[in-house]
Amino acid sequence: MYTQDIKTMKKMVAERFSPTTFNNQPVSDELINDMLDVARWAPSSYNEQPWKFLVAHNGEENFQKIYNALMEGNQNWAGDAPVLVVTLANNNYARNGKPNRHAWHDTGMAMGFFLMAGVEAGVQVHQMGGFFPEKIERNIELPEGYHPVAVAAIGYTQETAEQESRTRKPVREIRL
Ligand SMILES: Cc1cc2nc3c(=O)[nH]c(=O)nc-3n(C[C@H](O)[C@H](O)[C@H](O)COP(=O)(O)O)c2cc1C
Repeated sequence: MYTQDIKTMKKMVAERFSPTTFNNQPVSDELINDMLDVARWAPSSYNEQPWKFLVAHNGEENFQKIYNALMEGNQNWAGDAPVLVVTLANNNYARNGKPNRHAWHDTGMAMGFFLMAGVEAGVQVHQMGGFFPEKIERNIELPEGYHPVAVAAIGYTQETAEQESRTRKPVREIRL
């Protein structure tokens, strides 16, 4: 029966949360690459894989540039994260240049795979939409055609009240 497998999945999902504090354990570049190695297997429209992940470790020049692009509310906590990532999406199909209206959807899915791989390895990923994409586009050279979708702070943390207070709509509310 699948019941036990779903329980295991629910336990993984319960372990994930979006922390605003990180401990000082660094996140290795090897782990980030392992998480990306999972992310790249996300499904995507026409298997375009329209995503890229801009990775910056704390102390690197790009980390500061990404941090500077965050809105104030996020700057208040994200500066201590060991790693910041910007997901980028190509809004046009590489195969024919036509608009890819699934590009952001697919990039979010790749981020979902990336962050669950992180949970398995003991790190948390806190995504942020509160940033100024034009600041990133102005200050960091991005591959042609790719645009910032979201920023994420990544690091080790401990269980906190933030994690315990997570709530969700019940199934009956999301199932039509
Ligand atoms: C696309 C996206 C944008 C988000 N933007 C922000 C943000 O700007 N600042 C923030 O603190 N959290 C942000 N979050 C985190 C959500 O607030 C968080 O996922 C939600 O409250 C559920 O909490 P949980 O992740 O701990 O389960 C964002 C999450 C997503 C997926």
